[in-house]
Amino acid sequence: MSFAADSIQIEPLDAHHDRSSFSCGNVSLDRYIHEQASQDVRRNTARVFVAVMPDRPEHILGFFTLSAATVVAADLPLAMEKRLPRHPIPAALIGRLAVDLAAAGQGLGSVLLADAVKKTKVAAETVAMSVIVVDPIDDGAQGFYAAFGFQSLRGPQRRMFMAIHGGAAKSVQ
Ligand SMILES: CC(C)(COP(=O)(O)OP(=O)(O)OC[C@H]1O[C@@H](n2cnc3c(N)ncnc32)[C@H](O)[C@@H]1OP(=O)(O)O)[C@@H](O)C(=O)NCCC(=O)NCCS
Repeated sequence: MSFAADSIQIEPLDAHHDRSSFSCGNVSLDRYIHEQASQDVRRNTARVFVAVMPDRPEHILGFFTLSAATVVAADLPLAMEKRLPRHPIPAALIGRLAVDLAAAGQGLGSVLLADAVKKTKVAAETVAMSVIVVDPIDDGAQGFYAAFGFQSLRGPQRRMFMAIHGGAAKSVQ
């Protein structure tokens, strides 16, 4: 089975979604959707989007979070830094993204990432943002994002970025 973008629904996390059965194999991401995600939505610190199939609307196959963030221009590549002001640069943060183990390796992670980027680009038409940043949870996740064109920021942190305007990776619409 593979997940085409039109075979799944991506919708805001809601009370009818069963958060407790989600398992991606990463303890902190599982704990996040089980215990913290709804609170983040209520407190307006993250928007949480979940992927479901129409015939099992409560069953979460994957999720991602989007929040506003800033990056320091000096952490971006020199060519970008030169074009940007010294004050914090507005960004969108894909803070967490995960796929249930039962659905892994079938293209859902790519569909979720493409949707997160698309939502960010739409939002950036109304609220100015320069980059999308992601916080890969480990080396594997870093490889996943790198495959879609995200680059590491300069500096010691693991955070990666992609330019919103004109710099989109070929695989992420
Ligand atoms: C990483 C994760 C989101 C990938 O989801 P997925 O549905 O299995 O990914 P896809 O099937 O869409 O794969 C997309 C591409 O990324 C690649 N990929 C997937 N996981 C990867 C990894 N850990 N390292 C490098 N590349 C990876 C796939 O090989 C595939 O490339 P291809 O199209 O050339 O074959 C999923 O494995 C997961 O939830 N892992 C645990 C949580 C996690 O690491 N989240 C990352 C953000 S914090």
